[in-house]
Amino acid sequence: MAGLLLLVGIVCPSLPRRPHRRRRKLLNEQEKMPEAEEQRRLQEVQLSRRRLVQQMCLRVQGQNLGVGRSLGLGRSHLSRVYVEDRHGLLYCEVPKAGCSNWKRVLMVLSGQASDPDHIRHQAVHYSNALRRLDSFDRAGVEHRLQTYTKALFVREPFQRLVSAFRDKFEHPNAYYHPVFGRAIISKYRPNATQEALVSGSGVTFSEFARYLLDGGRPVGMDIHWEGYGRLCSPCLIDYDFIGKFETMDEDAAYLLRLLAAPGNLTFPRNKDRHPGDKRTGPELTHHYFSRLSAAQRQGLYQLYSTDYLMFNYSTPFRLRLRVLNSGGA
Ligand SMILES: *[C@@H]1O[C@H](CO)[C@@H](O)[C@H](O)[C@H]1NC(C)=O
Ligand SMILES: *[C@@H]1O[C@H](CO)[C@@H](O)[C@H](O)[C@H]1NC(C)=O
Ligand SMILES: *[C@@H]1O[C@H](CO)[C@@H](O)[C@H](O)[C@H]1NC(C)=O
Repeated sequence: MAGLLLLVGIVCPSLPRRPHRRRRKLLNEQEKMPEAEEQRRLQEVQLSRRRLVQQMCLRVQGQNLGVGRSLGLGRSHLSRVYVEDRHGLLYCEVPKAGCSNWKRVLMVLSGQASDPDHIRHQAVHYSNALRRLDSFDRAGVEHRLQTYTKALFVREPFQRLVSAFRDKFEHPNAYYHPVFGRAIISKYRPNATQEALVSGSGVTFSEFARYLLDGGRPVGMDIHWEGYGRLCSPCLIDYDFIGKFETMDEDAAYLLRLLAAPGNLTFPRNKDRHPGDKRTGPELTHHYFSRLSAAQRQGLYQLYSTDYLMFNYSTPFRLRLRVLNSGGA
């Protein structure tokens, strides 16, 4: 019942932990009220998040969820969706928004592990422990889409972008430096040293921004900075549950409860990548964006504007939305 206790702990932190024996019954009666209210509040939050996604799909993409939706759904849209058959969960993986820990939870739910805290990062991402939705046949896909809980977790887009930049470019990386770093440095750094051109290390945030904003990008997008639209197709897959990284503890506890997960399973709080680094929050994000020009900030906001609007994130800094229907997500 750890998940439940955690939830109650958030709602009423002043509630006595060990009530006196004689008063226990009375307190239990009182405890039920705020908990039921909390459930209703979380349910309302989910309803409004889903409504907003549906409205945005209509507005931005002219797509109506539900009507002829599955017609546009191809295998490529299913490749990021992980399947947990025992509890009936479909989880769309969004890197830099808690995905490693969600995959740990899926492994525990499916009976492959008993404690999410004891699953190593390697085992999460490279062991093929979890099946993806695109590995099922058509009937298997349809059945799961219609009957399972479909969950998506998002994060404030600029914070996710800074988190991805720090992870991939500020630490040695045998893939991102040679593949993305080299291309970025050779295109956007006029006086690059031979060493930088060869290693691809030391990409600045401003160079990263120039790459993102370049219509003729020398290398494509990547799942760590691709928008939610392309990653998880929220206008094609009618997600039942939209969680946020910013409210992960309560959203995760609520989802686990809806799934009737074991009571002792709580969402882990591991920071997988570079645990010694400070987590990327609003201040750090502001700091990174202060290195960009006003035009670059505006451009990046345009690039991720659909993500901002669809998931109700407030406009960062003092940017203004100029065009609704633009790129990225
Ligand atoms: C967006 O979030 C704000 C709180 O930040 C909330 O007051 C508002 O109702 C939300 N809008 C929608 C459409 O969900
Ligand atoms: C939760 O309970 C199950 C069975 O009761 C046990 O096998 C498992 O180790 C427990 N998990 C944790 C994280 O305590
Ligand atoms: C490139 O040149 C500019 C101006 O000449 C200078 O400010 C900058 O430090 C140089 N960068 C590198 C990596 O040498």
